[in-house]
Amino acid sequence: MTPDQVKAIQESFLKLKPISEQIAELFYGRLFEIAPGIKPLFRGDMKEQGRKLMAVLATVVHGLSKLESVLPAARELAKRHVGYGVKATDYAPVGAALLWTLERGLGQQWTQELAAAWGTAYNVLSEFMIVEAYGRTDEAA
Ligand code: HEM
Repeated sequence: MTPDQVKAIQESFLKLKPISEQIAELFYGRLFEIAPGIKPLFRGDMKEQGRKLMAVLATVVHGLSKLESVLPAARELAKRHVGYGVKATDYAPVGAALLWTLERGLGQQWTQELAAAWGTAYNVLSEFMIVEAYGRTDEAA
């Protein structure tokens, strides 16, 4: 990730801050549409869940310029997710739903550059989380 990409992500996320509740709602709506099998894993109040998600995303987005600062928390988060019944393959639909939601949330301000930056950021984070939680998944590659 280049410094420009990090800056673009941080600026775009800041724009969504005033509507973070709607963003979370949009995200889960999209996620359960494209991956309905994931829905039963969520047992708690979805409003509260949305707040937690947006808070963690804010921390990660803030920490992107110093990635090593967020990795210990991401490792623990990934390990807790194993206990929630989350599988390594679930990370792909979550990433797709996230990008879809950001695109809707930012409207005209969504660009190909932003899509590439967010896509890279999510891939870096989710690959790290998958390896920490499930071990290497690409040994055959
Ligand atoms: C970068 C990726 C992700 C982030 C930042 C994230 C964030 C969070 C946060 C903050 C929580 C609250 C509980 C806690 O802190 O342990 C949570 C819970 C949860 N997440 Fe994630 N998550 C991610 C990926 C995923 C994926 C891929 C799935 C797949 C289905 C998932 C499903 C869940 C479930 C089922 C819960 C528990 C809900 C409950 O207790 O009812 N998350 N997530």
